[in-house]
Parts: sequence; structure tokens; C-alpha cells
Amino acid sequence: MGTERKRKVSLFDVVDETSVAAKISKSNGGGAPMNNNSGNSLINPWNSKPYSQRYFDILEKRRTLPVWQQKDEFLQSLKANQTLILVGETGSGKTTQIPQFVLDAIDIETPDKRRKMMIACTQPRRVAAMSVSRRVAEEMDVTIGEEVGYSIRFEDCSSARTVLKYLTDGMLLREAMTDPLLERYKVIVLDEAHERTLATDVLFGLLKEVLKNRSDLKLVVMSATLEAEKFQGYFNGAPLMKVPGRLHPVEIFYTQEPERDYLEAAIRTVVQIHLCEPPGDILVFLTGEEEIEDACRKINKEVGNLGDQVGPVKVVPLYSSLPPAMQQKIFDPAPPPLTEGGPPGRKIVVSTNIAETSLTIDGIVYVIDPGFSKQKVYNPRVRVESLLVSPISKASAHQRSGRAGRTQPGKCFRLYTEKSFNTELQPQTYPEILRSNLANTVLTLKKLGIDDLVHFDFMDPPAPETLMRALEVLNYLGALDDEGNLTKLGEIMSEFPLDPQMSKMLVVSPEFNCSNEILSISAMLSDFCRDADIARLHSSSMQAFKVPMCIDGEAQKAADEAKARFGHIDGDHLTLLNVYHAYKQNNEDQSWCYENFINHRSLKSADNVRQQLVRIMARFNLKLCSTDFSSRDYYINIRKAMLAGYFMQVAHLERTGHYLTVKDNQVVHLHPSNCLDHKPEWVIYNEYVLTTRNFIRTVTDIRGEWLVDIAPHYFDLENFPQCEAKRVLERLYKKREKEREESRNRK
Ligand code: CDP
Ligand code: MG
Repeated sequence: MGTERKRKVSLFDVVDETSVAAKISKSNGGGAPMNNNSGNSLINPWNSKPYSQRYFDILEKRRTLPVWQQKDEFLQSLKANQTLILVGETGSGKTTQIPQFVLDAIDIETPDKRRKMMIACTQPRRVAAMSVSRRVAEEMDVTIGEEVGYSIRFEDCSSARTVLKYLTDGMLLREAMTDPLLERYKVIVLDEAHERTLATDVLFGLLKEVLKNRSDLKLVVMSATLEAEKFQGYFNGAPLMKVPGRLHPVEIFYTQEPERDYLEAAIRTVVQIHLCEPPGDILVFLTGEEEIEDACRKINKEVGNLGDQVGPVKVVPLYSSLPPAMQQKIFDPAPPPLTEGGPPGRKIVVSTNIAETSLTIDGIVYVIDPGFSKQKVYNPRVRVESLLVSPISKASAHQRSGRAGRTQPGKCFRLYTEKSFNTELQPQTYPEILRSNLANTVLTLKKLGIDDLVHFDFMDPPAPETLMRALEVLNYLGALDDEGNLTKLGEIMSEFPLDPQMSKMLVVSPEFNCSNEILSISAMLSDFCRDADIARLHSSSMQAFKVPMCIDGEAQKAADEAKARFGHIDGDHLTLLNVYHAYKQNNEDQSWCYENFINHRSLKSADNVRQQLVRIMARFNLKLCSTDFSSRDYYINIRKAMLAGYFMQVAHLERTGHYLTVKDNQVVHLHPSNCLDHKPEWVIYNEYVLTTRNFIRTVTDIRGEWLVDIAPHYFDLENFPQCEAKRVLERLYKKREKEREESRNRK
């Protein structure tokens, strides 16, 4: 095709004196080298179509981003080094521009060559991967999914044409499982490295090895704030490039006294700002979906009460499970005044941590920081991982306040005292690898062929106890043998982008003649763990039921009735299955969902997840089967199959009326959302929720006999702490022994 492509210089081939750098310095002074993106061409080399007007409009804006000043320097440095570390304030253009700079410098002469030149840019969050790739597709004037795409768990929006792919760090890790040297990529950008997610940390170690074996591969590590020396030390002294920020001063305010209720305080502060402060949008940081939706309702109500003494507001939520179209609303402008010359309108974004560094929202002048976020915590001693609302770090607080000074001087209201900031907040957020259950990570590493976990080059090695626990769990599940080697079962399990327990349940479900049903249950459970790509089940699986936006007595009653209609007395997993079946029987109808208080979006997405899981099952010839619905074993088989995966998540009802988790003996309570009509003696649970009390959520009734039948290796009484459950199990084992003897005698 056109001469445009031929003109391009290669960034990677060994070239003579006229290197990229030399050519760049000869090119125009605007920092743009000779390429299509310099705006001189009218034809888009990616699709040979004329550029749209919008392309040129955005290009003007892009050129003002701080990274454009360093385009030449960046490309030179990348040419001269295999690894590069780039630090720049949020909003300086790292995520959207840097991969495009690389593209501009790559030779794209033939489509064939082009395919071999893919660039990957990782994001810890699904939302960011989707949103940023859309933006970049727009900037390049191409259709999303073609030259620019994204890939997140259960959703691949890329094609054979894709040259730049934004993907979650978890997805890149999964790609490494089938392509250990990541050969399809020429340049890998690890973005948001400061977040230190589990997957990014594993990628650090992995890519260090890959780089040794692939001299043609380049790595760019990008971050908003960084313990630069630590990163440089880890990456063998890779050069550090700093992009100067363009931050305006931000005035910080603290509260005089600690706030008892940060949510209430945050809403009060929003109203105060709207009443008293000059124009400018507001960003409020809260911890999760429910809280955010609640806050949005309350803000609308309170501002509504102020009448027309204030301007109109547009309150927009932002959290990971929000559908893309809704996420896009954060970029809408503030509403105009109601009357000409009336008080100005304001946009109020209420967000989780996503808005801290992953997404930049222009126009924010006021930030409200209550000082909390949901963080993963793991206690290897009792094997409990949970999401807990915890104080943020000083580094986070700093990032949050920075969001107020992007376009003009701003203000940040910290809803805690200056003293707590100084004395109580940690300097940095702990890397996730130090606060996580590593079973899934270890399975991935084993599949990647990394056997010696102790000597794996982790930037921050996890506690040996956590690694031991992970190996133990995988051994109980049969994914690793006693020597710690991956078994055939483990190989298959690792192919599912799910928790090992869930993968195990799926893989063995044909043996219980109920793989169809287990697929539906798994899909219903997995739909809700959108933000963590590799596989954690976090939020409530009862999200299948929609919380009516404005709940009054009547609506609540109707919602409860709808829930009761699908409720299965033996447990929440079976309730989820009922909901899924009803959804399919009613042709996935949206208004049916609405009438029944079912979350249509969740069901649709669960259905998509299910299809993908079916494909994986097919790849390994795992049979799709069901027990006859009229058989009394229908639900029993399903419950048994679930136990075959989740036998390490069992609780026993003690005579005191409390549940104790088996073996770990933690007191837990059934989460109030459960559908049971009784308190079963034994339950399996999907999730352990730490709040003021310890809850187990999404529970199903199981029988003690099944424990000794299905998982005798785990319920081995020789390694069992003294407790009621142990005495009950002893009786069950004796009963089984007696039954066996009787049957022998009969023969
Ligand atoms: O990665 P970094 O925080 O350095 O910046 P970026 O995400 O590349 O964003 C640079 C600029 O692009 C932002 O300040 C926005 O003006 C714009 N942008 C946008 O308008 N819409 C998006 N979805 C993403 C970025
Ligand atoms: Mg970024």
C-alpha cells in the first residue's frame, strides 16, 4: 500500500548511522518524527482511509500532553536499551501515547510483518483496558477491535489485524501459558506498575527471564509514582525516564476531628463545595459499588433539596462492574446552568480507586478523600482471603489529591486529621502478593514451568507460609502431586481462568453427571469478579438480584417475593441455578428480568462466561451432561460435585448455634443474604467476608457423609484439631466402616 509505510524507519532492526534518533532530530521541531501521526498525511496508513476531522482535533490535544515533549528522547532510549522505566504524573499521556510512539517507529511495510510486531500494554483493571483502548482507537482513527484492541478475562476484542493490544496483566500472564516467550509481541508495556498487583509482580519476574532469551523484545515499565530506585535495582539498572508533571498547586484540608461516618461526611462535603466554591468538578473516592450507588442517590437528593439557589449537578458513579456505556459518562462535560447567567452546573464523579491513577478525568478541581479503599487481606494461618475496607497509604493520598490539580489549582478535602495522616498511614500500599492467597498464582507458575518457587525472582518475595499454604491447597485438590509437580488434572485446571477450587469442580462435574448445571453455577459466580482477572470471587453472588434504585416498602416486598420465587431451600448456589434456568426459559427477556428484579446485565454476562467455559470443557473432552431433572439425585449430584471442589470451604454448625469453619475453627455467620430456610449441620461456602462479624456468603447445605466419601484425604482425622466436627466425622467414618463390613458379609 501507500508510500507512507515504506517511509517508516525501523526501531528494532540494526540500522546504520541514520538511526531513528538521527531522523527524528532532523524532522520537525514539534517533537513528532516523520510518520503518519505527525499530521502531515491525510491518509491513515492503518486502513488507507482519509483521516476524519475528529482525528485532527484530537491530535491537537494530544500534542499538548507532557509526554510529547519527550517523544524523541523516549524512542532513542528505547532503541538503546532493552528495558526502560518511565515515571510520569497521571494524565501526562503515558498510557495513551507511549504505545503509539512505539507504533509510529515500527516498520509496518507488509501486513505479515505487521502481525509480528504487536505491542502489548497491560492494565491492572479491566475498566482501564477497555476505556483506554477505545480512546486510542479514536486517536488513531481506527475501529476498536481492529488495529487497536483489548483483551480482558472472558472478553477478547481484538483480531488478526490488531497491532496494539491493551490487556489486563492477568490476561498477559495467561497468554504466557501458551506462548512462554510471548513471541507475538515486540514491545511489552507494563503500565501502572506502582499498583503492584499480583499479576504485575509475577510478570516482572517472568519477563526478566523472557528478556534474557529474546534479545529482540523490549520492555517498558510505566508508573505514576514509583520507588524508582527499587525498580531500577530490580531491572538491573535500567534507565529511568521522568516525564515532568503538569500539576497545578492543590490546597489540602484536613478535618479537625476524626469523622465517625466517612460516607455521611463525604456527602456533606460535596454539598458544601457545591454551595460555596467556584465552578469546577468534584471527584469523591469511595470503596465499592454499593456504597457508591448509595452516595450518588443521596447526593442527588440533598442537592435537589437546595432548590434553584444552586446550579444543576450530574452525579456519575465509577466502579469496575459498571457497563462500558455508563463508564463513558465520566468523560461527559458538566451540565450547563439552568438559566442563562444562573449558577454553574457541576459534574460529580463518585469513584473507587480506579480514578486514583488508572483513568484521568479532566476538569476535576475538588477531590474528597475519606482515606479508605477496599483492599485484599490474607491470613495464611486460617486461610482466609477477603476484601476489607482499609486505610489507604500516604502515596495513595498523594495521588488522590493530585487529581484536583490537573487543569487548574484545586482543593483536596481529606476526611481525616492531619495527625492521622502523619502517624497512621503507611508510606506505601503493600504489594498485593504479600496480602493474597497464592494458590492460583502457584498453579499458573507451575504451568509456566517454574518449579523452584523459592528462587523465583519476585520483587517482594511472598511469605514462605503463604507459598506453603498454596502448595498444600493444590495438593489437596490433586493439581500437584506430593513432589509438587503438576498433575494431568492440574494441567487442565490451569487452563480455566478461575479459582482452582472452581476449576476442580468443573473438571470433575461429569463424574457426578451434572456438568451442565455446574457450568451454569460457575458462570453465575464468576460474573461478579470483574476486576481481578486471574480469578477471585469477590462481590456478592446475590447480585443476580437487582436492588431497586429507589426502595420503598412496596418495592422491597415485591423484590423479596421475586427472590423467594427462585430461592432454593438447600442453598444459594442452587438458587443461582434456578435464576439462570428461568432466565433462559424466558428467552433472556429484558422486561421479564425487570419484572422479577433480576439483574439483566449480570445474567447476560454470566451467559457469555458460560459459553467460554463450555469451550474450554470441549477442548479437554469433558462431557456435558445432566442428571434427569425428575430424579431425586438431580440436586444431590450437583451438591456433591460442588463439594468435590470446595471441600476446603466447609463450616459445621456447633451445638452453641454458631458455625465453625472446618479445621481452622473460625467462628462464622451465615450472610443475611442467604436463601436457606434452616440452619444445615454442614455447609459449603463460596466466600468469606470480613466485616464487623465474619460472614460466609453463598452457602449450600451438604451432608457429612459426603465429606468422608468425597474428600477423605482432607478430612483425615489424624490431622484434625479437636472439635465437635471431628467427633461427628469419627462417627461417620465408623458408620461407613460398618456398612462396608455388612456388605462384605452379605457377599
Ligand atoms: O497514563 P497517563 O495517566 O499518563 O495519561 P493518559 O491516560 O494517557 O491520558 C492522557 C490524556 O488523554 C488525559 O489527560 C485525557 O485528556 C485524555 N484521555 C481522554 O480524553 N479519554 C480517555 N478515555 C483517556 C485519556
Ligand atoms: Mg495511565
